[in-house]
Amino acid sequence: MDAALRDTLLNMPKAELHMHIEGSLEPELIFALAERNRVRLNYASVEELRTAYAFKDLQSFLDIYYAGASVLLTEQDFYDMTRAYLQRAHEDNVRHTELFFDPQTHTERGVDFGTVVNGIDRALQDARKEWSLSGALIMCFLRHLSEEEAFATLEQALPYRDKFIGVGLDSSERGHPPEKFARVFERCRELGLHLVAHAGEEGPPEYIRTALDLLKVERIDHGVRCLEDAELTARLARDRVPLTVCPLSNVKLRVFDKAADHNLVRLLDAGLVVTVNSDDPAYFGGYVNDNFIQMFEALPLGREHAYQMAHNSFSASFLGDAEKRKYLDEVDAFFGR
Ligand code: ADE
Ligand code: ZN
Repeated sequence: MDAALRDTLLNMPKAELHMHIEGSLEPELIFALAERNRVRLNYASVEELRTAYAFKDLQSFLDIYYAGASVLLTEQDFYDMTRAYLQRAHEDNVRHTELFFDPQTHTERGVDFGTVVNGIDRALQDARKEWSLSGALIMCFLRHLSEEEAFATLEQALPYRDKFIGVGLDSSERGHPPEKFARVFERCRELGLHLVAHAGEEGPPEYIRTALDLLKVERIDHGVRCLEDAELTARLARDRVPLTVCPLSNVKLRVFDKAADHNLVRLLDAGLVVTVNSDDPAYFGGYVNDNFIQMFEALPLGREHAYQMAHNSFSASFLGDAEKRKYLDEVDAFFGR
């Protein structure tokens, strides 16, 4: 790739819309927090833990990801984790980020919902003050748990309603179709929350359709398998439903064998509103700029695609119109438009 394109990718203003905050926990921080909280890990060293990051599919990753999150106990832990991610995102010229968090991973271990959300929220407030980096939270329900448990989590979340803007659905996709959560999503819709769901990552295109029809989601997280269904692809393009694509994640979790096999260009050519995101950067070998660089190195992508995806990242965000316009103007100015 030429130096000018590389500079463009690194420096262009961008939003990140698909990032699990627990997936930003670097092995060094996992070990530091384990020591601080006297939590026992099944790995002897940072190196041994990193060596375990050879995944064969989504589930083999999730098992390690939930083990890593077990070191998070205090509000300061959640602050420190979020702060570290926001610092990295700021270095990547991320101007706005919509973060997923998995409360059930923590409340199941006896950590209070407020401890989780207050720690993350405090780091978001500091980033806004210090770096003008705006952020918002999307609470995910774990789809391997029951809908009843999702309802109980929603109940716990309501006192903190002002601290998150929407809900999502993550964890093991296969065997846990969107319809399992139709009632809780309907309740969230009545509450005025934004709705998103992971679909079509490992699961079939049908899960994308049911996420749209039954959960009434506004964005699809991943969605890369939509191309197996021409009618669905046409619908996503026509309705301008954004896909929050995570290329390095897809390669690490074996959705595609290698970067050059990723369908990013085909998604763009199909007219889809594609955004590039890091998913779980500490586990998948890179933050958002690494995702851009590796995709642009492996695939026939150029400056026009960079502009398009920077633009999409803000237009697909849940920012209000005025803020969106401000960021989109910034993108246009960066690209000299
Ligand atoms: N939780 C964290 N990362 C995830 C992913 N890529 N898919 C499903 N659940 C997740
Ligand atoms: Zn994800």
